[in-house]
Amino acid sequence: MEMKTFLVTGCAGFIGSNFVHYMLEKYPDVRLVNLDKLTYAGNLENLADLENDPRHTFVQGDIGDAALVAALLDQYDPDCVINFAAESHVDRSISDPGLFVKNNVEGTVNLLQCCKNAWYDADAKAWRAGKKFLQVSTDEVYGALGPEGFFTETTPLCPHSPYSASKAGSDLFVMAFHDTYGMPVNITRCSNNYGPYQFPEKLIPLLINNAKHHKALPVYGDGLQVRDWLYVMDHCKAIDMVARGGKPGEVYNIGGHNERPNLFIVKTVIAQLHERLGDDAISEDLITHVADRLGHDRRYGIDPTKIKNDLGWYPETPFEKGIVLTIDWYLAHEEWMAHVTSGDYQKYYEQMYKNR
Ligand code: NAD
Ligand code: TYD
Repeated sequence: MEMKTFLVTGCAGFIGSNFVHYMLEKYPDVRLVNLDKLTYAGNLENLADLENDPRHTFVQGDIGDAALVAALLDQYDPDCVINFAAESHVDRSISDPGLFVKNNVEGTVNLLQCCKNAWYDADAKAWRAGKKFLQVSTDEVYGALGPEGFFTETTPLCPHSPYSASKAGSDLFVMAFHDTYGMPVNITRCSNNYGPYQFPEKLIPLLINNAKHHKALPVYGDGLQVRDWLYVMDHCKAIDMVARGGKPGEVYNIGGHNERPNLFIVKTVIAQLHERLGDDAISEDLITHVADRLGHDRRYGIDPTKIKNDLGWYPETPFEKGIVLTIDWYLAHEEWMAHVTSGDYQKYYEQMYKNR
C-alpha cells in the first residue's frame, strides 16, 4: 500500500522514536505527525536530531483528547495511524492499574472512534480507501509459557499483569472496530525490545547504567525468567511492513526465537562493560537477587512464522550484535542517560519550545 502520511502516537518514547528515525531514514518523502503526551517516558531528546526536519511534526497531547485527535486527522489526513502510545512498564502497572486503563484502553478507544469518524462515510456505508489503524501491542497479552511451545497469533489471550491486561483490552477494542464496523486494522504483538533510547527502568538500560556506576544489579527472584529479545530496529522494520502489507483484520507476532534467561542478559552486560571499560569493579559481584515481581510471567517466546511467510520479515540483528550496538550507544550517550536519570530531560521541552 502506498503510504506517505502517518499519525504516530507515543513516538517520544523508546520504540516510537526509533520508528521515526527508521522511517525518515528509509523514505525521503514520508510525513510523520507525532502525538505524544510527554509522560515521564516521553523524551524529546530522543528526537533532538530531527528538530529541523520538516517531515516530522511534534504535537504534545493525549491520545484520549478527542478534539485534538479529530483536529489532527482533519489537518493532516494521514494514510495510517500507528498507536505506540501507552504506559509500558509492568512494575508501574502493579502500583497504579487505573492509569493503565485510562491511557492504554480508553486512549486507544478514543483513537479508534476518531479514526472511524474521519474515515467512515456513513452515507456510502464505506471506508475511505487507503486508510489503516495499526495497534502496537505485546506478546505479554498471551500470558506466560511453560518450558515448551511458542505464542502464535491464535494463542488465547491470557494476560496476568495490569499492564498486559490493559494491552489485551486495547487489542480487543481494535478487533471489535474491525469486526463491528469493518475498520481496516492490524495488531502487531512483539517480544521484549532493546536498543537505543530505552528508558532506564527497563532491564537492559538499567543494567548498563547501574553497572557503569558500580551499583547493585537487581535480579527479580531467581533470574531464570525467559524473555525473547528483539533489536528495536528489527521491530520498526516489521511495523512498517505490516502497515504497508498487512492484511486488514490480521494480527502479526514479531519476535526472533532469541530467548534468554534474565541472568544470561545480566552476565552478558557485565562481561561486555568489564571488557570495554577495563573496570574490574564491574563484575558478577554486583548481582543482587531481590524480591520477585508479583505475578511474574515465567517465559515468553514468539513464533514469527506468519509475518515471515506473509510479509517476508525476519529479525536481521543477532543478539550478539544487537547487544554490542546497544552498549556502544549508551556509552556514547552519557549525557542522554545523565539527563534521564536526573530528570533534566523534562526541562528540554520547555527550553526547546517556549519561544515557538
Ligand atoms: P515507552 O514507555 O518508552 O514510551 C511510551 C510513549 O507513549 C511515551 O513517549 C509517552 O509519553 C507516550 N504516552 C503515554 N501515554 C500517552 C497518552 N495517553 N497520549 C499520548 N502519548 C502517551 O514505551 P515503548 O517501550 O516505546 O513502547 C511503545 C509501545 O510498544 C507500547 O504500546 C508498548 O506496550 C509496546 N511494546 C513495547 C515493548 C518493549 O519491549 N518496550 C514490547 C512490545 C510492545
Ligand atoms: P522489563 O524490562 O521490565 O520488561 P518486561 O517486564 O516487559 O518483560 O523486564 C524484563 C525482565 O527482567 C523481566 O522478567 C523482569 C526482569 N527484571 C529484573 O530482574 N530486574 C529489574 O530491575 C528489571 C527492571 C526487570
